[in-house]
Amino acid sequence: MAEQTLTRVPLLEAQGICKYFGGLKAVDHVDMTICQGDIFGIIGPNGAGKTTFFNICTGIFTPTQGRIFFCGEDITAMSPEAVAQKRIARTFQNLQLFKFMTVLENVKIGCHIKTKSNMFDAILHTPTFKRDEAFTTEKSLEILKRIGLFDFRDTLAGNLSYGMQRKVEIARALALDPKILLLDEPAAGMNPLETKALMEFIQALNADGYTIAVIEHDMKFVMNSCNRILVLNFGQKILEGTPAEVKTNPEVQSAYFGKGMVAGEAIR
Ligand SMILES: Nc1ncnc2c1ncn2[C@@H]1O[C@H](COP(=O)(O)OP(=O)(O)OP(=O)(O)O)[C@@H](O)[C@H]1O
Ligand SMILES: [Mg+2]
Repeated sequence: MAEQTLTRVPLLEAQGICKYFGGLKAVDHVDMTICQGDIFGIIGPNGAGKTTFFNICTGIFTPTQGRIFFCGEDITAMSPEAVAQKRIARTFQNLQLFKFMTVLENVKIGCHIKTKSNMFDAILHTPTFKRDEAFTTEKSLEILKRIGLFDFRDTLAGNLSYGMQRKVEIARALALDPKILLLDEPAAGMNPLETKALMEFIQALNADGYTIAVIEHDMKFVMNSCNRILVLNFGQKILEGTPAEVKTNPEVQSAYFGKGMVAGEAIR
């Protein structure tokens, strides 16, 4: 993880981000710096603004105020497609899979943002289209092997368990060849065994060089795997720091862990 390296190179930065829905300050003046190699955790109670913040980072929402920079470039006003072209990939809290398409077809969609063929190539089956097809199929199968879903490549996504569908979504995000992978509650709906395997997979991806930002309620994972953590509460940043700093911060303890419970208890 990046803490072990001497220089931290900023990858995704938020400066003074606000998102107001009418009178509701869903995100309120949040700064954040995710560096290359991080497993960056974002935590906070329900409704703290975590998903809204991800939506701003990925072009789904335009912030009311503030700027987002990726590799030093201002991407604040970019569309979700343009953000994906920058190789910022994400998964969604509410699964966004095509349930009546196979696992392989779902993953191939992630590759298409990088290929050259257009609609006419697809209709006319031009050489460009055929080349792209062969490439995306091969690459998608490779990813499915890596994520342990190769045997399910021809299964309709909707027929898989919820935990496996979440993995398909991660596979689709990986197909983008991301420079950063944003995961919104990847373990939601998974049983403890699936959760453990997923957490190990996220650590393995990080060891392979992927920078990861993850919204997660599993404190054991967050405290043990993330090198930096951003804590949000009512849209505001309480703290951005190391797990040790998060664990000992009294404001975090009362806001996030609740009265009578300290972070140490949550991570056992
Ligand atoms: N499109 C929207 N329009 C109006 N209000 C919204 C919209 N999206 C989110 N909100 C509100 O913004 C606040 C933050 O929501 P958000 O989904 O970002 O929280 P969260 O931290 O991801 O919560 P959870 O842990 O439950 O997923 C909530 O009060 C929510 O109701
Ligand atoms: Mg959310």
